[in-house]
Amino acid sequence: MTERKKVLVTSALPGGRLPELEERCDMTVWQGEGPMPADTLRDQLADCSGLVCTLINRVDRQLLDAAPNLQFVSSMSVGVDHIDLPLLTERGIPVGHTPGVLVDTTADTAFALLLAAARRVAEADRFVRAGLWRPENPWSPDFFVGKDVSGATLGIIGLGEIGQAVARRAEGFGMRILAWNRSPREVPGVQMVSLEELLLRSDFVSVNVALTAETRNLLDAEHIGMMKPGSVLVNTARGGIVDEAALAEALDSGAVYAAGFDVFEQEPLSTDNPLLAHERVVLAPHIGSATTLTRARMAALAIDNALAALDGERMPHCANRSVYDI
Ligand code: DGY
Repeated sequence: MTERKKVLVTSALPGGRLPELEERCDMTVWQGEGPMPADTLRDQLADCSGLVCTLINRVDRQLLDAAPNLQFVSSMSVGVDHIDLPLLTERGIPVGHTPGVLVDTTADTAFALLLAAARRVAEADRFVRAGLWRPENPWSPDFFVGKDVSGATLGIIGLGEIGQAVARRAEGFGMRILAWNRSPREVPGVQMVSLEELLLRSDFVSVNVALTAETRNLLDAEHIGMMKPGSVLVNTARGGIVDEAALAEALDSGAVYAAGFDVFEQEPLSTDNPLLAHERVVLAPHIGSATTLTRARMAALAIDNALAALDGERMPHCANRSVYDI
């Protein structure tokens, strides 16, 4: 009888499909309190053939060097910037991820943040809860006035599946849509422009590009300085793409009107992050894909990828397909 492969799962996955994985391998699921500490992950992965992880688990050289038998990694995320992809590719280790299933949910989050930032929804909620909506502070012509979304121009940075889903929503809101993408794209109703033109012309900018070496710090101080005065910046892609300190300065000076951020350079957000000081910044704790159905679908894809790898087959959703060409 062949020995069952050991697979480590760093968190309980939703959707009820973990038993399928357990049938096919010697599976350990992290049951500890809170997230699995990095050194525990390193120790427990030492004799494993597979890792099923999430975006909070860093898969780097140190971890790989401690796991000489590792044959696959399956992440319950579409983004793989927590994984040293070039190194895993070099070592012939396939990396599974979960594209497609979170597109609409993430685009909804981008729009929720865009609307909330434009119409000061979080600020207004805080005002009411603080008991400040009182007879001496009633409705008035300039009470909580914000920015119109309808008829405004939206610039989408990264016109992949999520960027296109954001464009579909913007169309429904009667927005003009510009986009910049690293490779050429043709999408009806969307005008492709340079990044600089997008920043100069857009009333709202939505970041929907993956974090890679090329896009790290893409919206640096210089690019933020090019944004149309009084515009709104929304980021549901990844921290590290926008220079948060430069954005805070632009908010201080009023050059940027407001922002809606779901992702940050450091997560969880550090208490001294300058964006926390801004009333007009709507903050969310990386909840772009957080619906029950979408999270179950993501978990299902992560399990499908792991099952394929255990069977010695190609993962259906592999982020480094070139490992199969060798
Ligand atoms: C992902 O899957 O990369 C998303 O950021 C999760 O919301």
